[in-house]
Amino acid sequence: MTDIFDLASLRSEFPVTKRMLYLDSAHQTPMATPVRAALAEFLVEGNESAGPKPVWVRRVETARENVAQFLNASPGEIAFTKNTSEGLNIAANAMPLIAGDNVLMIEGDHPNNAYAWLNLRSKGVEVRFVKLGDTEVANAATFAPHIDARTKVISLSHVTFHAGQRHDVADIGKLCASKGVYLVVDVMQSIGVLPLDVKQLGVSVLAAGVHKGLLTPQGLGILYVKDGLDELKPAYIAMSSLANPPDDYIARPDDMAPRKDAGRFEMGNYNLPDLHALSAAIELINKAGTANIEQHVLALGDRLISHLDELGVKLVGPRSRTERVHIYVLDLPVAEWMEYFTQNQVRASPERGGIRISFGLFNSLEDVDRLASLIKERHKQTSRSQAVEQID
Ligand SMILES: Cc1ncc(COP(=O)(O)O)c(C=O)c1O
Repeated sequence: MTDIFDLASLRSEFPVTKRMLYLDSAHQTPMATPVRAALAEFLVEGNESAGPKPVWVRRVETARENVAQFLNASPGEIAFTKNTSEGLNIAANAMPLIAGDNVLMIEGDHPNNAYAWLNLRSKGVEVRFVKLGDTEVANAATFAPHIDARTKVISLSHVTFHAGQRHDVADIGKLCASKGVYLVVDVMQSIGVLPLDVKQLGVSVLAAGVHKGLLTPQGLGILYVKDGLDELKPAYIAMSSLANPPDDYIARPDDMAPRKDAGRFEMGNYNLPDLHALSAAIELINKAGTANIEQHVLALGDRLISHLDELGVKLVGPRSRTERVHIYVLDLPVAEWMEYFTQNQVRASPERGGIRISFGLFNSLEDVDRLASLIKERHKQTSRSQAVEQID
């Protein structure tokens, strides 16, 4: 155990930890018991009272307040979407970009981010990819030499899924503010794992889904749009996006002004079950505290790195504490190691550079030690069979 929070009681909310060594929170987190209970309660309400929709809709607003507080934003800056991709596409299509403008990204960033911007090439918008090694993190200096008079947007992941780099978004935010460039950040990997403060980060737009650090099943996304960016216009319109939706449900062609707040980007009915789950998940996360979760997963990372050094296994991403969080890619041949881990009830992910180990708030130092002893065991097996081959 690390002594940062009451891990034993938190871990007991994740029954999956009794069945397997779950080291794959960057893929999706296992469902916690309070989240399951919130979903079950929603199902009972739907089943037994045909859905108290006004109550559910009120709870959507509570969830919005919870999310806003979580990000140090105001509720009017939060829209609910389907996932990260939808949020990033909303952002890309809302920006006042014209032919000849350019968008800066990191080469190899998540394709769901890249495609949202690459799709604007049909309008004559250029996407420029900046190169960055797997052990490096992006900061203002990474982008500054690439900015010109037609650079309108920088878009990147906060924490990368493929090497675990934690980019210095606050530094990039300062650069964007000084150059009048929008900053769009995919926080899918960092939300719920690190404290996120939109003001401190200096972002224009944040997008995420809920199925990783936010401990909620797939199908719901969060979009933060900074207050006052009125020039960001929704590409799609539904009643829910309008400032004055018609009470009689008859469309008014002469009154289609969008809402002023981030709700202008929302489309129709919500994912109500997931919103119930999300409020329960945020309550659980707040009990632990994101600053504590960050310290906890960093401590697990420290332990993992010291094991890897002893075992002679290279880390694909950065080693420094300020440049990583909960994602660690081990430079091991993917096919054989994935098979070995699966046989030993270890859940991890195959990644570009090796095997991705990622921690959640429920993981323990003992989990890390168990992983290390499995790697050691496999190394022993391999050297034994190599010795036998040499004798043969
Ligand atoms: C950085 C990043 N962005 C986005 C996604 C997923 O996008 P979406 O929420 O649209 O499925 C992932 C992983 O699933 C990710 O790691």
